[in-house]
Amino acid sequence: MSTPSPAWLAAARTQFVTHFGAAPTRFAFAPGRVNLIGEHVDYHQGFVLPAAISQGIRALARPRPDTLVTLRSATFNATHTFDLAAPFAATSGWARRAEGIIRTVLADAPSPRGLDLFADADLPVGGGLSSSAASMAALGALAADLNDLPLAPTPFALTLQAAEHRFAGVNCGLMDQLAVLQGRANHALLIDCRDLSLRPVPIPPTWALVVLDSAIRHDLATSEYNRRQQECAAVLALLRARRPAVQSLRDATDADLDAVAPTADPVGLRRCRHVLAENRRVHEAVAALAAQDAPTVGRLFAASHVSLRDDYQVSCPELDALAEAAWQAPGCIGARMTGGGFGGSTVNLVQASEVRPFLTFVAREYKLQTGRDARVLVTRASDGLTRGEVP
Ligand code: GLA
Repeated sequence: MSTPSPAWLAAARTQFVTHFGAAPTRFAFAPGRVNLIGEHVDYHQGFVLPAAISQGIRALARPRPDTLVTLRSATFNATHTFDLAAPFAATSGWARRAEGIIRTVLADAPSPRGLDLFADADLPVGGGLSSSAASMAALGALAADLNDLPLAPTPFALTLQAAEHRFAGVNCGLMDQLAVLQGRANHALLIDCRDLSLRPVPIPPTWALVVLDSAIRHDLATSEYNRRQQECAAVLALLRARRPAVQSLRDATDADLDAVAPTADPVGLRRCRHVLAENRRVHEAVAALAAQDAPTVGRLFAASHVSLRDDYQVSCPELDALAEAAWQAPGCIGARMTGGGFGGSTVNLVQASEVRPFLTFVAREYKLQTGRDARVLVTRASDGLTRGEVP
C-alpha cells in the first residue's frame, strides 16, 4: 500500500460525496502488519520483526468550518458524530477508539477544526493484523493534517499506543504502531523496543508472505493479554530484588530465572522463559533471513509457535491446526501464530513458486481438523502510513 488505487479512490469518493455532499481533500492509508517473529516481547523491551502489509485502512477527509466530526465507517456500516467543543460522546467499540484518537491528536490545537471522514478496510477486523492501530493511525493523521499539526513517527506512535491503552483497554507494546507507521516495502523491521531504533531487514524476493486468518475471535484476548504482563511483572520483581540491573525481562538471563525459580510462581516462570528464548530467536531469524536460510527460519518459526502455545499460552486449537498444517505443506518455509493470539492469524513464509499447492494443502487440512475455512491474504511487505492530497 503506498498510493490509493484509482479504482478504490473513485468508489470511495462517490460514497464520500453521497454522504457529505462535497468532495474529500485528503487521503490516508495505514497498513496492517504481521509479525514475523518476536511475539509478546515488545512490552518487555525486547526485539520484534514485524512487516507492514499491503492490506489496511483507507480513509478520506475534508475540513469543516465548525467543530463537528462525522465519521462514516464502511466497515461497520455506521456513522459516528461528535463535537470537539462538547464532552466525549462514544461509549464503546470502534467509535470510542476513533473519537479517542481524534480528540487526543487535536488536544493541543489552539482552535481545532472539525472534519468529515470516510473509512473502509481490506483488512480483517480483530484478525491479529493491527486493524485497530491502523485505523487510529489513518484517522489521527487526517485530523492532524486538516489542522496543520506536524506528525513525527515516533511521537505519533507513542500517542497511538497511549490511545490504545486508554480507549481500547489493551496495555499493548509499541510494535504495531511502529510497524504501521514505519513499514518499508519488501522489508521487515527489526525494532529494539527499548530505544525504539529500527532496522529494515530485506525479505528474500522469492519468499512469499501469506497470512491465514483462522476466523476465530476470543473475547478474553484483552484480559489475558493484560494478565500476561502481570504474571511476568511478579517474576520481574523477584529478579530485580536479586539483581537491580535487570530493568526488564530483556536484561534477564536463564541463570537469573534459575536463581529465582524456587520462590517464583511456576506459571510466571514459564511466561518468562518464553520471553528470553523468543528474544534470542529474533536475532537468529534476522541472520537466517540475510542468509536466505529457509530450514533455520522454519525451525525458529516452529519453536516460537510452540513456545507461545505451551509456555506463554496465547494460542488456541485453530491457530495450532493452521500452523501444524502449514508445517506439512509443500513450499512452506516457516509458519506460526502472529500478533496477540487467542484467535486471529498465522504468518507463513512460502516459496513463491509453490503458493498455490501450499494453500490447497493447508485449506484442506484446516477444514478436516476444525470444520472451518481459513481466510487467505496473499500479501507483501509494504510501506507504512501514506497520506496526501486527493488527486
Ligand atoms: C498485540 C499488541 C502488540 C504485541 C503483540 C504480541 O498485537 O498490540 O503490542 O504485544 O500483541 O506480540
